[in-house]
Amino acid sequence: MNIITVINAKGGCGKSTIAMNLASGLARYGHRVLLMDLDPQAQVTQWLAAGDGLTSEGTLVSALTRQQSLSEVIQPTGFENLSFVASADGLEDLGREISQTDGYPSMLTQLLAEEHIADHFDFIVIDSPNQISPIMENAIFPADVFIVPFESTKAVKSYASIYKLLVKLRSSGDFRMLHVLSNLTRLPGLRKRVLTLLQDDGIAAARSEIRSCGWMAQVDENGGSIFHYRPLSKGAQDMAALVEEVRDLFSNGPQAHPEASTTSPDMVMSQEAAETTSA
Ligand SMILES: Nc1ncnc2c1ncn2[C@@H]1O[C@H](COP(=O)(O)OP(=O)(O)OP(=O)(O)O)[C@@H](O)[C@H]1O
Ligand SMILES: [Mg+2]
Repeated sequence: MNIITVINAKGGCGKSTIAMNLASGLARYGHRVLLMDLDPQAQVTQWLAAGDGLTSEGTLVSALTRQQSLSEVIQPTGFENLSFVASADGLEDLGREISQTDGYPSMLTQLLAEEHIADHFDFIVIDSPNQISPIMENAIFPADVFIVPFESTKAVKSYASIYKLLVKLRSSGDFRMLHVLSNLTRLPGLRKRVLTLLQDDGIAAARSEIRSCGWMAQVDENGGSIFHYRPLSKGAQDMAALVEEVRDLFSNGPQAHPEASTTSPDMVMSQEAAETTSA
């Protein structure tokens, strides 16, 4: 099982958008995917209508407090191969409480191991909060790959604090990074400034970029992913490229589940070629 955490300490840089659509894109390849909302804002939870963001029952809050097992709070999504663990705002208080407990950054990792979640999923995709917190540390601890979105020069600056935390929590360095330009506006020179800042810090950008796309900004209101909502948009093309890049990272990566759909996103996109074009 491979765990991908989408992270940065900058609000609005595209974490939830990438987490939701990446999870969906991987599921469309037939991989068994578990998407986990670790953000107390519960953005993805509301996106998927998987909770109201307030009630802790049936969410990660109940699992971390051992009121329910993790398996009990895994919900189906209505999309083939995609399961979900919801968040609730109680996660924020819980974060403060667990910070007094020894070994708190590994609480989620322990739950995943105890309940043999790896037997049931090929990928876990974690959406993390934008604040450095004990909950964010739990999102960092089990990850094999971190996806860091940059939508501004501020996001590049925020990354420094995240990177320090990564190095502290994962000193063995057994993780990989994808630094992804995301939703950059057409503000003159912005793209160049972001790239220059990254280069100055020796940070290589991923080969895929999630361009700003009007359909992508609306997809959460429609409940599904960009692949369902606007399969021919540039948002869907960019997300498909990111899904490929993630799959390539795991060179002997997980094979599609034998019983799962064999339709690739490319095939779906060509079948739907008569539909709406890019936003
Ligand atoms: N590629 C894109 N094109 C257009 N709009 C986008 C794109 N990516 C994200 N957005 C929009 O930008 C806003 C912020 O994105 P998102 O919620 O994914 O960021 P976030 O990093 O999860 O924010 P937060 O830190 O608050 O959790 C949302 O309104 C989203 O719809
Ligand atoms: Mg978010």
